Amino acid sequence: MDTTIQRLHAREILDSRGNPTVEVECTLACGTFARAGVPSGASTGVHEAVELRDGDKKRFGGKGVLNAVTNVNKEIAAKVVGMDARDQALIDEMMIALDGTPNKGRLGANAILGVSLAVARAAATAAGIPLYRYLGGPTVHRLPVPMMNIMNGGVHAHWQGADFQEYMIAPYGASSFRQALEWGAEVYHALQSVINKKGMSVGVGDEGGFAPHVSSNHEPLELIVEGIKAAGLEPGRDVGVAIDPASSGFFEDGKYRLRTENRNLSSQEMVDYYEKLVNDFPVVLLEDGMAEDDWEGWKLLNQRLGGVIELVGDDLFVTNVERIERGIRENVANASLIKLNQIGTLTETVAATRLAQFNGWGAFVSHRSGETVDSFIADLTVALDTGHLKTGAPARGERVEKYNQLMRIEEDLGSAATYAGKEAYVRPVRF
Ligand code: PGA
Ligand code: ZN
Repeated sequence: MDTTIQRLHAREILDSRGNPTVEVECTLACGTFARAGVPSGASTGVHEAVELRDGDKKRFGGKGVLNAVTNVNKEIAAKVVGMDARDQALIDEMMIALDGTPNKGRLGANAILGVSLAVARAAATAAGIPLYRYLGGPTVHRLPVPMMNIMNGGVHAHWQGADFQEYMIAPYGASSFRQALEWGAEVYHALQSVINKKGMSVGVGDEGGFAPHVSSNHEPLELIVEGIKAAGLEPGRDVGVAIDPASSGFFEDGKYRLRTENRNLSSQEMVDYYEKLVNDFPVVLLEDGMAEDDWEGWKLLNQRLGGVIELVGDDLFVTNVERIERGIRENVANASLIKLNQIGTLTETVAATRLAQFNGWGAFVSHRSGETVDSFIADLTVALDTGHLKTGAPARGERVEKYNQLMRIEEDLGSAATYAGKEAYVRPVRF
């Protein structure tokens, strides 16, 4: 098999929100063809790698990605064509050097990531092995707990619902991934009935979760617990919950502004608020409890809750080894979110994950609120043995494609497959 890269071709496609994004195709000399789609966030961290947008207001309100597409087709292709697709680290390193900025702002992290992922998939296809095995080796076999985001708020619901962005269910009590997904879908539908019966809207947010008007940020948790019970499952024992408030989105002038509750909280008060939630509900994981530059608030949060639940930094760490290193040094969390497009290459994403894991931290793989049907993160999660991932509700094509891919992987592994279950988290499940 000649795995020399013969052609790279990018185009502008639409993501799940109807915004443009980059898709890249890679053809090898042996004829192998592979394609990758690049996701896009809405509550993006200020420290993320730069997603190159055209800024031409005449197209897609300035959100076009034709410059990123041209960067792949011209500048990046000129260097990458002729390289061996199996040389992932070399190719990623070359693109980082070619870009020449610290944040991939010249060529665009969206351009670079599309190439990085298309090349990896092409190499796996040429080798004739599934992507998760190509990335993770022959010994990987553990399926993650699917952390399904079934109620949406914040910017993902245009600030019409809760201030907190994501309310996830964690079916860690299931005995397989397939059963976990089944439970998740059952809870999702039971929750729909619960919400419907209360006369609330069953319209959904960007990640497929329900997004009704609520009068507090704990109300969604009450609804979810009701949904879990209505599905015949036990909250805590069978299914836990997790929250991503995405608090950078409501951190204003040094205060956490909870619009639905008409309150402004200090970092200390916000920590008290979370502690009450952890005591009142079966919360196993809290992501971005504090804002992306509120390092002092994070320290407080970790002192109070870091021994009890998994505390994940998303906007805080942006899948960046330098920021994760600081987090470890200053002891502000115990897990890092992992998003490919926050850093822009596969190699750097793996490095960030390994840094977390080698330090006894959790690594939590994530989709973005703007997605394509590309299921790369499903394979990546298994390859990196992260034990859990979040990729939205068990509904909407771009979300379920990742969960469906994990069912295919579970089937492919056969009796070798195990399910992470309650071992998925960096802090043991309390129930
Ligand atoms: P985003 O949200 O993709 O809109 O950034 C996801 C998250 O905050 O985890
Ligand atoms: Zn987040």
